Formats: sequence, structure tokens, C-alpha cells
Amino acid sequence: MRILIVGATSAIAHETARCFAKDGAEFFLVARSPEKLEDIGNDLKVHGAKRTETFLLDVTDLDRHQEMIETAISTLDGLDMVLISHGTLGDQQKCQVSVSETLKEFTTNCTSVISLLTILAGYFEQQKRGCITVVSSVAGDRGRQSNYVYGAAKGALSVFLQGLRNRLSKSGVAVVTVKPGLIDTPMTATVKKGLLAASAKGVGEGIYRAMKQRKEVVYLPWFWRPIMLIVRNIPEPVFKRLSL
Ligand SMILES: NC(=O)c1ccc[n+]([C@@H]2O[C@H](COP(=O)([O-])OP(=O)(O)OC[C@H]3O[C@@H](n4cnc5c(N)ncnc54)[C@H](OP(=O)(O)O)[C@@H]3O)[C@@H](O)[C@H]2O)c1
Repeated sequence: MRILIVGATSAIAHETARCFAKDGAEFFLVARSPEKLEDIGNDLKVHGAKRTETFLLDVTDLDRHQEMIETAISTLDGLDMVLISHGTLGDQQKCQVSVSETLKEFTTNCTSVISLLTILAGYFEQQKRGCITVVSSVAGDRGRQSNYVYGAAKGALSVFLQGLRNRLSKSGVAVVTVKPGLIDTPMTATVKKGLLAASAKGVGEGIYRAMKQRKEVVYLPWFWRPIMLIVRNIPEPVFKRLSL
């Protein structure tokens, strides 16, 4: 199994990669920090990875996406799966008073992923097999006053993935949308955790299973599916009165 992971230093992606490492997978790991990438590469080898290659990329540098993907394909002599897991939980208050901050968040969480997917879709469509998995969020299911910039980016991404899944199903390529709820990772270090917060390990394992089973949309943990069904259906006049 040859897997490209963008945002490979994310806590969630690392846990998913560990599961695939146990199967003896080969990895092309993409992220910004050479130190973190080296640590993760070594950890995956300890867990059984057959091969780990690394590539430094700030995903907001859209002009380098083509080069990165071509390098991944030539280095691993093809790709079977892709996992895209980078993201930032931006500061909503800062975004509300700054167009550039809003666009920065949108570029990281949405536009950069759409750019990668546009290139990768062509490759997988031609190959007529494989699996593309992207970590979106429950935040994309309904805009909330506390984080609607992040939510809008994830929501746009989820709709893009919906359409891509439709298109690529004709070519035998699976497109998996992952919608986690609150997970205890570096991204949420300053966010107050309640009873519903889950571990990166559990979510990472859930993503592994979803990729192997070529699922369509997975909520992780599972209970976010009924919760978001309720949240999506709260009438606007009521929703406006809630401090969510
Ligand atoms: N944690 C949650 O509660 C939660 C809930 C729903 C969805 N998610 C989604 O899950 C995914 C993984 O997040 P996580 O929870 O595992 O958090 P994390 O450990 O903080 O991982 C986020 C990753 O994104 C990378 N990244 C951010 N900006 C980047 C850029 N410009 N270029 C390249 N890499 C960049 C970070 O790299 P650096 O190490 O270089 O900063 C880091 O590896 C994200 O898409 C996030 O939106 C998380």
C-alpha cells in the first residue's frame, strides 16, 4: 500500500498512519517541519512501515502542489491512497475584523485542499482505482457564531468532496469525507474539553477503518452523526438565540 499523507505531522494523521504502518505500508509524508517529519517517519518505521519518504511543503504555497504530487508518484512508483489532514483552527475574532486573516484561514483549510484534490483527482481517475480521504469537520455542517470562518471552509470542502465522490465513483475511486467532532490534539490545546472530546488515537483508527472500507462520509466518533442531524435541523430563529 503506497500512501501520500499531506499534513502528516497532524496528531490525527499520525495515528492513522500508525495503523497502516502495521500493515507494512509505504509512505510519502508531507508537512512543514523537517524535525517533526523525521520523528514521525522514524516512529512509523518502528511500527512496521516498509518505507517512509518526506517532503517539505507549506500548503498555502499552491504553486508547489503539482511538483509535490509528481514527486510522490515517482518516488513511490504510484499511489494507492491519499490522506489530507492539515488544518488550522483560526481565531474567529481576528477574522471578523480582518479580510486577510479570513482569507488566510480559508486558504489553509479549503483552497489548498481543493488545489491538491484537483490535481490528485485527475491522477486517480486515470488510474481507475484508489482512495482519497480528507479530514473535514462537523463544524462544516452548520455555521455557528463562534467559528463560522473555519466552519465555512470545512463546509465548502465537504460539498467539494461530495461532488468529487460523485464524479470519481464512475472510475472506481473512493472519496472519503471524515467529519470529526472535538478531538484532543495540539490544534485544540486551548479549547475547553467536555465529555464529548475524543482522543486522536481513536479517531485515527476510525479513519483507518473508513479508508479500508472505502466509506463515504464518516462522523468520528459515531455519535456526532445524530448530534449534527439535530443541530442542522434547529430552526434559524431558535439557533440565533443559542450561544453556539
Ligand atoms: N482537533 C479537532 O478537534 C478537530 C476536529 C475536527 C476536524 N479536525 C481537523 O483534523 C485535521 C487534523 O488536525 P489535528 O486535530 O490533528 O491538529 P494538529 O495536530 O494541530 O494538526 C494540524 C496540522 O496541520 C498542519 N498545517 C497547518 N497549516 C499548515 C500549512 N500552511 N502547511 C502545511 N501544514 C500545515 C500542521 O503542521 P505544523 O506542525 O507545521 O503546524 C499540523 O501538522 C485538520 O484538518 C483539522 O481541521 C480537527
